[in-house]
Amino acid sequence: MITLKSPREVDLMQIAGNIVYKTHQYLKPYIKAGITTQEIDDLADKYIRSQDAIPSCKNYQGYPAAICISVNDEVVHGIAGPRKLKNGDIVTLDICACYKGYHGDSAWSYPVGQIDEEKSHLMKYTEEALYVGLNQVKPGNRIGDIGSAISKFAKEHNLGVVKELCGHGIGQELHEEPNVPNYGIANTGVRLKEGMTIAVEPMLTAGSPSVEMLDDDWTVVTKDGHPAAHFEHTVVVTKDGYKILTGE
Ligand code: MF3
Ligand code: CO
Repeated sequence: MITLKSPREVDLMQIAGNIVYKTHQYLKPYIKAGITTQEIDDLADKYIRSQDAIPSCKNYQGYPAAICISVNDEVVHGIAGPRKLKNGDIVTLDICACYKGYHGDSAWSYPVGQIDEEKSHLMKYTEEALYVGLNQVKPGNRIGDIGSAISKFAKEHNLGVVKELCGHGIGQELHEEPNVPNYGIANTGVRLKEGMTIAVEPMLTAGSPSVEMLDDDWTVVTKDGHPAAHFEHTVVVTKDGYKILTGE
């Protein structure tokens, strides 16, 4: 079922979204060579809770950490641990927070120190792909318009689109209908309506888009070991476009 949110619900999602955004800003200065992913996760957990919110990922279907931290070839759902970030890594923080029963969800990839050309190309165009997708978000447009625009843009920049993972509706549940794939056919799929809240989240790869699951049953990595990037915002569909709930 696709739920349309009332203005009161959108207000609560805006607060959840603000908390997610502030958590990103809070963590950013810590993203340096030598910090462990566990230290980042602990900081995120404490910060989100200090904002009267709950880290939505914790215990979600048994997920053990507060946020998802994915390094280099890890596409999504990396689990914090003793691994130290090192110069030249890229790290994606995928942060979800629940405030008064409503979720916000935003992922961002960050460089650690100086990164190579393959990674900087990947990061630059994956971030742009997010806005290319969001540009399709308006009442009357359809879900397929978003994915079609993202995959066309990815192809133009020689990046792979991970097909196994999608954006999603969001609200009182972290994952609601509709599914928001990063590929598709323009003018097909669910029609967007004012009051829908969705997370748009291109996950692009520098090499082949094929992925596999690690033995921890969470971490999704590229098969060829090339890096992946991931940028995500939660937005509400407005009268004539969209509003980002997880931004400034
Ligand atoms: N933002 C992630 C997603 O949309 C949250 C995953 S929940 C977790 O897939 F349990 F995997 F962390
Ligand atoms: Co998401």
